[in-house]
Amino acid sequence: MTELRTIAEEFGLIIVEDAAHAFPVRSDDGRWTGTSGKTGVYSFYATKTITTGEGGMVVTDDDRIAARIRTMRLHGIDRSIWDRYTSSRAQWGYSVVEAGYKYNLTDLAAAIGRVQLKKAGAFLTRRKKIAAAYTRVFRGIPELEIPTSQGEHAWHLYILRLSHGSRVSRDRLIESLRQQGIGTSVHYIPLHLMPYYRDRYSFTPENFPNALDSYSRCLSLPIYPKMGDSQVDRVIRAVENGLKAE
Ligand SMILES: Cc1ncc(COP(=O)(O)O)c(C=O)c1O
Repeated sequence: MTELRTIAEEFGLIIVEDAAHAFPVRSDDGRWTGTSGKTGVYSFYATKTITTGEGGMVVTDDDRIAARIRTMRLHGIDRSIWDRYTSSRAQWGYSVVEAGYKYNLTDLAAAIGRVQLKKAGAFLTRRKKIAAAYTRVFRGIPELEIPTSQGEHAWHLYILRLSHGSRVSRDRLIESLRQQGIGTSVHYIPLHLMPYYRDRYSFTPENFPNALDSYSRCLSLPIYPKMGDSQVDRVIRAVENGLKAE
């Protein structure tokens, strides 16, 4: 982020930091992820490190951007709901000053978020322990590449990669894990393989060889705060078994 900020300053660019996976850890510059640029965004979708079911949050230290976001998130209206229902001015009096959206977090979701926020540190501690347990074993297995990080890792996902030349394919390993009762996922299928982008821009899979290579070797293992030590062990054993599969 330090380098990105230098580049942004040099060329007059604005950084919008996608920290959807990275709450609440610090970047290499010591700042909370999401606060190194002009604005940062967090996702509180159901699977994320803290959740409000759906929704998210934008942060900025720029008053002008904050004011515009406040207007645009709710129909382009120039008054907040809070102001309309608490001030002595008529609540029905407001102006639509922009062609806005309906992007507000609901009060119910925000209430869930406030409780989740208090647990964010404990959730992170547990995810770190699970990741460390995986890494302790998987770093000794040549067929596997373990995830690494330059700063602190939020461990929203634990993404394993099969090494080049591994005898077992990613899809075979996923299937073996499924048969052993372990759910996994793949993060992510690259956009250029998706029909819309593929067809719109006439992409072939080889147009983005690094994305294709990473994607074809990766899988995400279970990692969530309620996961117990015996469940972690079970996943580890299942991966070891899966790698032995012919
Ligand atoms: C990297 C990244 N950015 C942004 C998002 C969007 O999150 P949301 O749909 O909750 O806004 C996601 C969702 O998974 C994501 O993975």
